[in-house]
Order: sequence, then structure tokens, then C-alpha cells
Amino acid sequence: MEKNRRNKRGTLELFYLLKRRGEKMGQGPDIKRMKKTCYRRELIIPEGLIVIEGPVTSRYLAQLDMDPGLKGFRPPELQWDALQEIAELPEGRVIMAVHKGSIVGYITFHFPDEFGRWGRSKMPCLLELGAIEVAPRVRGRGVAPQLLQVAFEDEDMEEFIVISTEYYWEWDLDGTGLSVWQYKNMMEKLLGKVNLRPVGTDDPEISAHPANSLMTRFGKKVDYDFLQKFEILRYKNKYTL
Ligand SMILES: CC(C)(COP(=O)(O)OP(=O)(O)OC[C@H]1O[C@@H](n2cnc3c(N)ncnc32)[C@H](O)[C@@H]1OP(=O)(O)O)[C@@H](O)C(=O)NCCC(=O)NCCS
Repeated sequence: MEKNRRNKRGTLELFYLLKRRGEKMGQGPDIKRMKKTCYRRELIIPEGLIVIEGPVTSRYLAQLDMDPGLKGFRPPELQWDALQEIAELPEGRVIMAVHKGSIVGYITFHFPDEFGRWGRSKMPCLLELGAIEVAPRVRGRGVAPQLLQVAFEDEDMEEFIVISTEYYWEWDLDGTGLSVWQYKNMMEKLLGKVNLRPVGTDDPEISAHPANSLMTRFGKKVDYDFLQKFEILRYKNKYTL
């Protein structure tokens, strides 16, 4: 049994295991040095001008209203608080879409929470795309792709492996009228616009349903050692001796 298990491990896995022994990690991104330079774009849609900007400060967020339709993850007023908290985190980034003084869309980035596999790894270069949401009244107008474009305009984002854990139970299936598989395709197409691609993992929550996925973007400046560590992290069970 033990022999079979060993035989199943290919040379690639063995290579990783051997490589791990003498693993030397770089320091990872210097978060304190990062300026979180704010980028801005304008989008004209039939509803009017949408300003896409970020990362924004919590103080700026506090001056704006939240569109009542932004209730995908929690009630809008609680999400508004959460956005401000994320903006204050040293690594936190909030990019938002504003229409006539109201937030009509946002995207957030922060370190993965420490209770899951990704956060427990304490990899300093692992950043999670926490949420992307656009108010139903302005959906299908290209707001989300612009939020993503602005988010990755900052060169500092190239120092991160950005992950997005896509769980179908978080999707707005009712609001969009899409099936689980249509929604999965939409998310892959959307996130693919900034090179977030689905990668395999044996993470139990992601493996729980075939529509779930781990979307990942490998920044151009991520150390090779971290890329390798992430490969091991994705298939943790496979490497357990
Ligand atoms: C996913 C989401 C952010 C996309 O935002 P968006 O600004 O509508 O994105 P787009 O304008 O690129 O539209 C995406 C697709 O929606 C479809 N769409 C068009 N009109 C639409 C409408 N009125 N309502 C919903 N979807 C519509 C289009 O098919 C489009 O695909 P295309 O690129 O092939 O044209 C948005 O649907 C949303 O907030 N969903 C709820 C939150 C969520 O599921 N987040 C993802 C998990 S974190």
C-alpha cells in the first residue's frame, strides 16, 4: 500500500519534495513600501458617467453612499463598513466604481483569512481577490472588467500571486438568471481579462462542487521559490507523507 502510494508520485513531485529541503524564500513584497497609487478611469454608459478608481482610502469611501443593490455578500451598509476596514489594512486594496456619488461596484484585495489553507500558509506574496460586485442596475455594461483593469494597473500587483476562490453558492444566480455553468463561464471570461486562470487544487471547499474553482494570477515579479511553494500548497494532501 505504502509502496503503491510512493509509486504514484511522479518525478515532478519528487523534484518538488527534494527542492523543498533546501528551500530558501525571498522576503516577499515589502507592503510598507507600497504606495497604493490610485488609478482612475472613466466609463460612459447609458446611465451616465461611471468613475472607476482605486485603491481608495477609507476616508474617501466614508464620503460616498452605497447603492442599495450591492447586497450580494452582506447588507450594503455592512459591506460599506467592510470596504472601509479593508482599505485600512496595510495590504488591503479597494477599487470602486462611482456613479453620481454612489458606489455602484467594487473589488477588494487582502491577505487570505488565516483559517483556510491559503492564509495558514503565511505566504507574504499571496493576495486574495476577496469580492467583486456590481449593482444590478449597471451590470452588463463592462463595469467589472474596468474595475479589474484599474486594480492591476499598479505594477506592485506583479509582486503577488493573486487568488480568487470561486464558490458557486456566492454567485448571484437568481439576480442574473444564469445557470451555474453559465455563471462559471462568465466568471472565467471576466477574471481571464486580467490573466486570472483556473488552476487545480485539492482544497476541500473548492473540490466540494465541480463549478467551484481556484482562479490564480501569477505576478511577473513573484520569486520562483514562492511559485514553487504555491504549487505544493495547491495539492497539499498529495504531498503529505
Ligand atoms: C460578476 C459581476 C461582478 C459582473 O459584473 P458586470 O459589470 O456586469 O460585468 P460585465 O459587464 O462584463 O458583464 C458580464 C456578463 O454579464 C452578462 N450580462 C449582460 N447584461 C447583464 C445584466 N443586465 N445582468 C447581469 N448580467 C448581464 C453579459 O453576458 C456579460 O458577459 P459578456 O462579457 O459575454 O458580454 C456581476 O454580475 C455581479 O456583481 N455579480 C454578483 C456578485 C458575484 O457573483 N461576484 C463574483 C464572486 S466574488
